[in-house]
Amino acid sequence: MTLLKTMNLNVKFWAVVPAAGVGKRMNADRPKQYLMLSGKTVIEHTLSRLIEAQVFSAVSVAVSEEDPYWPELAIARHEAIITAPGGKERADSVLSGLKAIGHQADDDDWVLVHDAARPCLTAEDIRLMINTLQNDDVGGILALPSHDTLKQVNGNDIVNTQDRRQIWRALTPQMFRYGMLKSALTATAGNLAVTDEASALELMGFTPKIVEGRPDNIKITRPEDLALAQFYLKQQAQQKELS
Ligand code: CTP
Ligand code: MG
Repeated sequence: MTLLKTMNLNVKFWAVVPAAGVGKRMNADRPKQYLMLSGKTVIEHTLSRLIEAQVFSAVSVAVSEEDPYWPELAIARHEAIITAPGGKERADSVLSGLKAIGHQADDDDWVLVHDAARPCLTAEDIRLMINTLQNDDVGGILALPSHDTLKQVNGNDIVNTQDRRQIWRALTPQMFRYGMLKSALTATAGNLAVTDEASALELMGFTPKIVEGRPDNIKITRPEDLALAQFYLKQQAQQKELS
């Protein structure tokens, strides 16, 4: 196992997990983070991956206050887990998750924000991101280059073809300093263009970095994604056995 090249031993790492969405596009009988995947719920996979990475001082999870599923899970009472109330938009949930660790986190500590709906995150990607970004002034995000040719459209008409080399898909985790992230999310609150943490920092004039992540770190969004996540989890378990 590659060790973290931690430069400043005083700086802590925190995880914040927005998990207060309803999963409209999944069209299931419950929010997608509570659907079963290879023997446990999606969110249990996600949180286990974060806890097992052994880098986080705590994992702050933002869940809806009317959520009947969360209190039923044993992991909700794990010593590393802090529960925060969810918000209207993803950014509100993240800000709430940040506030819940406010009495323990320092402004210079790093926060990795990770979607509850991404259960296939690997310890390898967590370490890659931390090792790459921990001496950066701003921080950054895991991302993937686009393999498809990208078209800008107007209805069904193609307007032009984008330069694929300049377009990356944003994943999570997204890693920023506690103080800077909280200020950026507070300043941009209510702005619907803020669909991830990086966009809040960008609006404040900062330049977050990209770190190329693994393609198996998918976000469960539509029904067919569950089978794909199941496949990736199985594949990861096999690779672990072989190594
Ligand atoms: N999320 C959240 N609070 C919200 C909205 C979303 O914490 N008000 C979380 C989701 O639970 C998810 C992550 O943000 O883990 C990414 O959002 P998304 O994939 O869009 O999930 P949902 O909003 O639940 O799905 P949909 O957009 O299809 O309704
Ligand atoms: Mg959503």
